[in-house]
Formats: sequence, C-alpha cells, structure tokens
Amino acid sequence: MIILGIETSCDETAVAVLDCKNNNIKILSNIVSSQIEIHQKYGGVVPEVAAREHILNILPVVNEALEKAEISPANHSLLKKNKKNKIDAIAVTAGPGLITSLIIGVETAKTLAYAWQIPIIGINHIEGHICANFINQEIKKSRNQEKIEFPALILTVSGGHTLLILMKEHENYKIIGETRDDAVGEAFDKAAKLLNIGYPGGPAIAAEAARVKSQKSKVESICLPRPMLNDKSFDFSFSGLKTALLYAIQKDKNWKEKIPEYCEEFQQAVIDVLITKTIKAAQKLNCKTIMLSGGVSANKELRSQFDVAIKTKLINTKLVAPEFEYCTDNAAMIATAGYFYAKRKDFTPWQKIKADCNKEF
Ligand code: KG4
Ligand code: ZN
Repeated sequence: MIILGIETSCDETAVAVLDCKNNNIKILSNIVSSQIEIHQKYGGVVPEVAAREHILNILPVVNEALEKAEISPANHSLLKKNKKNKIDAIAVTAGPGLITSLIIGVETAKTLAYAWQIPIIGINHIEGHICANFINQEIKKSRNQEKIEFPALILTVSGGHTLLILMKEHENYKIIGETRDDAVGEAFDKAAKLLNIGYPGGPAIAAEAARVKSQKSKVESICLPRPMLNDKSFDFSFSGLKTALLYAIQKDKNWKEKIPEYCEEFQQAVIDVLITKTIKAAQKLNCKTIMLSGGVSANKELRSQFDVAIKTKLINTKLVAPEFEYCTDNAAMIATAGYFYAKRKDFTPWQKIKADCNKEF
C-alpha cells in the first residue's frame, strides 16, 4: 500500500511517500522544507509568515516527493511508463497546530484526493509523532533492536505538547499525564530566547550544554528547580523553570560568561523531571516499552540518560525512540499513522476533513 503524507502544522512544509506492507514501513521519499531561517530573526514562528511560505512551497514539495518516489503525479496514469507506482491513500495532519498553516496542507490533500479519486485520512499530529517509532521497525527488529511491545508508555515532548500516554495496542491511547503550562520544547525555546542564543531553542541549548561536559566546568552555584518532581500525579510544569532561569540571570552580573553552564543546568532540570516521572509511571503501569516522541526526543543527552536510567531501574523495559530525522516535524510519521488507519479502511470522506487547530488527542 502506497501512502502519501502531508504535514504543514507549524513551520515545516513536509511531504513523504511510503510503501507499507505487513507493518513494514519503507520510506520512498521524505522531503522537509524548513522555514527555520525565515523565523529565526523573530525568535519564534510567525503564523502569517509560515502560512505564506507553505503556499509557496507545498506543490514543489509534493512534486519533489513524488518524483523521488518515482510516481507520476499526472494520473497515476500510465503516462510515464517507467513511473509505475500509484498512491493508494493520502494522510494529512488535520491538527493540532497553527490554523493558517494546517489549512494549506489539508486543502492540498483534499484537492489531490478529489482529483485522483483516492481515500484520505485526517491525522492527529501527536499520533503522527508517536508513529515515527514504527518507521523501519521491521529492519530494527531483524537487527534485534527496539522491538515495541505493549503496553507501552509514550513520552511525547514537542514544541506544543508534553504528554505521558499509555498505549495498550495500536490506536488505543490514554493520556495519564500532561503539562499544566508550557510544553518542554516551548520552555527550551523561551529559555534560549532569554539567553539570546537563537531559535529553535532546544538544539541551541543542547549545543551550549555539551560544551560544559567537555570542559568539565560545571558551576555549582547555578541551581534551578525540578518542578513537580515529587508530585503524585504524572503531570508536568515548565513555566516556573523558565522564570527561575530569568531570575537567576537577573541576579548574576556575569551570566553572559556562563551561558553553557546555565544551559547545562536548564537541560538537566528538564531531563531529571522527564525521566523520573516517566519511569515512575512505567513501573506503576507495568509497561514493557517506553517510547519517546516529538522534537525534544532528538535531544541526545535525554536519550542517553534515559537509557542508563532504564537499564538500572526498569531492566525488563525497552527504550524506543525514533531515528533522529523523524523526531521533529516530518510527513513520514503522518503517512505511517495513515497506514494503520488505511489498513482498517478507516477513511474519512474528503468533505468531512477539516483543519482543526485544537484537535483533541
Ligand atoms: O515536534 P516538533 O518538531 O514540533 C512540534 O510539534 O512542536 O518539536 C519542535 C520542538 C522545538 O521546541 C525545539 O526547540 C525542540 O523541539 N527540539 C529540541 C531538540 N531538537 C528540537 N529540544 C531539545 N533538544 C533537541 N535536540
Ligand atoms: Zn510536531
């Protein structure tokens, strides 16, 4: 089954083509046109600018993804004899996200589905991030790596969401914890803005923090809180951490000379909270797999500390994370989610597919 995926929920125009059979998900093409350089000068995504860029980019990106997958856009017909593949269904991010950005992906997907007379599936962006873990699973399994077993506990950490989700099986999700204010990625982005080290904040903070490790120059006096670490619920809170960072640098005349140390402490505070709460929840719910998802799961320090914590505290549980290129927004993850729906023929008539900025998970 060949699935075309489209993702435009924020500032990435992304299109992918997947060849899926018996849960084996093979990437034929995965194109991401990033707008990071455009939004960098504003220190964050400007919705109106993002939407205008999506309009310019969407068809060239669709075209590039089809060409790379050797699919003829013209008909799916036999116009180009050497381009034999044909799309079976389209999966598109319907929400949550920036409404003006979502609309462009959704309307493009509907137009293509209508013109090609093929089914369409509206995907929740969060489910897309989770499904990034299933890309290349068969290859990973054959290498005896990262077999996903249920029940699984998913830690979704992105620019818009921080969720702990219990997944009992495919399409069976239950949120057991979430942030009460800022998402983790949002906290990274705001902290990086305070420190004036660029956008997106996560990779910028991670790069600065890595300098401390190599220089072994940790400053003991920099100490940020670990919000809700010992709270009984599985909820999170990150806005206070960002404010604590603001107060700390306001009090420190020389903070500009200690940016790596501030970044290291900020990142460590986030990691401590995420790992402690996830492990506690996995123990309570007897989860066989812990799955990471979302842009922040690209953080190498988070992954390696998770690995150590699980090996010592949860020896019968596996840690699974998407390959790096599928952590941040992409359309391969949306097409993968779409495959699981298409397998059950769970399609939505194109008339009913609608962009929804607050789409519930
Ligand atoms: O999943 P994503 O691409 O978009 C949303 O759905 O929000 O996540 C973007 C977020 C940004 O806040 C970015 O700063 C963060 O992921 N991020 C990281 C890293 N790479 C991206 N955070 C920490 N460490 C990273 N290496
Ligand atoms: Zn995302």
